[in-house]
Amino acid sequence: MQTSSGAARGPLVLVTGASSGVGLATALRLARQGRRLALLARGEGPLERAAEQCRAVGAPWVGTLAVDVRDDAAVGNAVRELTASQGPLDAVVSSAGVVAYGRLDELPAATFDGVVATNLLGSANVLRHTLPGMRDAGAGAVVLIGSMIGHIAVPTMSAYTVSKWGVRALARQAALENRDVPGLHVSYVSLPGVDTPIYRQAAYVGGPAGRPPPVVWSADKAARVVVHALDRSRPVVHGGAFDGVTRLGFTLLPRVYDAWVGPLFDRFASDPSTHLPPQEGNVERSVPGGNRLGGGHGSGLRAAFSTVAGLLRRRG
Ligand SMILES: NC(=O)c1ccc[n+]([C@@H]2O[C@H](COP(=O)([O-])OP(=O)(O)OC[C@H]3O[C@@H](n4cnc5c(N)ncnc54)[C@H](OP(=O)(O)O)[C@@H]3O)[C@@H](O)[C@H]2O)c1
Repeated sequence: MQTSSGAARGPLVLVTGASSGVGLATALRLARQGRRLALLARGEGPLERAAEQCRAVGAPWVGTLAVDVRDDAAVGNAVRELTASQGPLDAVVSSAGVVAYGRLDELPAATFDGVVATNLLGSANVLRHTLPGMRDAGAGAVVLIGSMIGHIAVPTMSAYTVSKWGVRALARQAALENRDVPGLHVSYVSLPGVDTPIYRQAAYVGGPAGRPPPVVWSADKAARVVVHALDRSRPVVHGGAFDGVTRLGFTLLPRVYDAWVGPLFDRFASDPSTHLPPQEGNVERSVPGGNRLGGGHGSGLRAAFSTVAGLLRRRG
């Protein structure tokens, strides 16, 4: 474990996926509040950059854990080493995640398994090694970051959909199992589309680039909601203007939903002007050059404009 020096004190928070997007924005918010931070991801370069940024905005102590959440033993060792040197964890934010685009019958098995292993089993590995310490202390807060897609089905995101339904179940189960410790809270935050690099870092079987559907949140807005859930111990938080309606349509009108979700996904969650060849993305290994705060997708308005422009270009 890489650490900054000093015998600092203050609440200690572990953030996974802390080198990019929502995890990085969350770490920066927590740093500004003066929390001690353990930042976890695979790629060391972006992790070190994230740590420097957190120190610069006020974190009294920052350590980096270059660990793959799919590796249960490595997660266990890292948490043991961290708590041995820094004392018990006060909170955990599980944000590490990857995406793959392709139908179930198109995605290579290793890619499908890699997405589920990262998003779902990786979150379980993190909880397995962090909950016992918080149970012993009688206090703690955990936020599992889920997705609107963990409540519905969408074309070409089979592995991600399955993984995020699983994260929702994991959060509910962990909340139930820890009811006997009143000071320990497990929260689930379902995010809408967020402007992060995850869409370009994704694995593709080949096809139009994915992008966050409108209304798109910034990584910092997502982080604000995550930190709020962490501080207020909110059990379930749903973000996004249209998410409630979409969930309702999926549940109450499944035939109408199934007929419309394909065309709507093509219009609002894909970029027809950018066709990507088959690529592994960051599912199997870190692609450090792609990790940063924002994805460059801009606001929902810009996304809608580029959809129309792309369609006109294709017709012209
Ligand atoms: N962006 C959206 O529209 C959106 C919407 C809803 C929910 N979410 C959820 O929000 C969370 C964060 O996503 P994001 O958009 O911020 O993605 P991102 O910008 O691509 O960041 C992903 C982070 O996870 C780390 N990571 C990936 N695989 C890992 C592994 N096996 N072990 C450890 N760390 C790993 C990455 O670093 P390394 O690759 O170097 O390890 C990176 O730090 C995810 O759970 C995602 O499902 C995102």
